[in-house]
Amino acid sequence: MKVLSLTCQNYRNLQKACLQPESGVNVLWGENAQGKTNLLEALWLFTGGHSFRGAKDSELVLHGASGTRLELAFFSEEREQTAALQIEGGRRHAFLNEVPLRSSNGLVGHFCAVIFSPEHIALVREGPANRRNFLDAALCQLKPGYVRLLNRYQRLLAQRNALLKDIPRHPELTETLPVWDVRLVQDGLQIVSQRQAYLERLTTAAARIYSGLSHGKEQLSLDYQCSAEDLAAALLENRERDIRQGFTSAGPHRDDMEILLDSAAARTYGSQGQKRSIVLALKLAEAQVLEEITGEKPVVLLDDVLSELDGGRQDYLLNHLSDCQVFITCCVPQQACGLHGGGLYQVKNGCVRPERPQTA
Ligand SMILES: Nc1ncnc2c1ncn2[C@@H]1O[C@H](COP(=O)(O)OP(=O)(O)OP(=O)(O)O)[C@@H](O)[C@H]1O
Ligand SMILES: [Mg+2]
Repeated sequence: MKVLSLTCQNYRNLQKACLQPESGVNVLWGENAQGKTNLLEALWLFTGGHSFRGAKDSELVLHGASGTRLELAFFSEEREQTAALQIEGGRRHAFLNEVPLRSSNGLVGHFCAVIFSPEHIALVREGPANRRNFLDAALCQLKPGYVRLLNRYQRLLAQRNALLKDIPRHPELTETLPVWDVRLVQDGLQIVSQRQAYLERLTTAAARIYSGLSHGKEQLSLDYQCSAEDLAAALLENRERDIRQGFTSAGPHRDDMEILLDSAAARTYGSQGQKRSIVLALKLAEAQVLEEITGEKPVVLLDDVLSELDGGRQDYLLNHLSDCQVFITCCVPQQACGLHGGGLYQVKNGCVRPERPQTA
């Protein structure tokens, strides 16, 4: 998967910007608030998802303009393809090879990318929901069936929780619980086994990448943690408590992924740079597993990753990723000077142009 060109019209501060990247590592450099992240965000939208910054579509249109249009030319499935996205009057219109799509979801699976932004450090630092979401989002890009399974489980869970809340007032409803439990266990176990199988592949790739980033000094390992050894037994065992609390205390919605660095919990003991390196390794591993399964290397988007990495880690990142097409943003142009080959682009006041930073 390679981006051949991206054209932005009235997209945030990118009034008219055109990027023609190299096929390896592309560094987008410039001062704060010039449009670097906006460019990554524009590329990301072609995966069919929403803004990774959680922005509403209306916020993506240049202030004062009536709409925005993005055009992408990319190489995928052994041919050149085009896609366009338009936001006008609060509505999104998507086109693939000039054919209008019913919704921008239709782009999913055609253009694939992995994004790392500074907020993703929550994956290591914050609670288990972040890690579950990471695993689920990765599986959703891979398997349409997983999206359906996950939605069904979430509906069942909501219904069981509503029932738990009703039982104190209507004790006779307790009889209906086993019916829900059987279905919840059935779907729950499928989710767990898919997550575990995915994590096994991810772990191998992430450990290898992390070892490269830390020049073999530290070892990363990941471990799936079930909230219950035996889900059916746990639901039965926790029944009284679940009724009292009004929610289901075991199941894949309570599971976690443990992240260890040299056998110590990274969440508790990891330094800032280590946490950042872990998220990077996870994201790059996600890209690799996606490639193993789909046969296409996704485009890698790295927003502001260089600032907390030491020289060795930066060097690994900048020069050992050239198999994939990578887009990296940074403020300090000197950081980008570690790059051997690839493209350098200055982003200034919403414009992009190929430019090597001046070295002092
Ligand atoms: N809808 C919009 N219309 C016009 N300008 C916008 C819109 N949305 C955001 N901007 C502006 O875009 C500018 C650039 O944002 P961006 O996040 O891309 O900066 P950046 O180059 O990544 O900076 P930093 O180095 O600080 O991360 C900001 O000044 C912001 O105010
Ligand atoms: Mg930015």
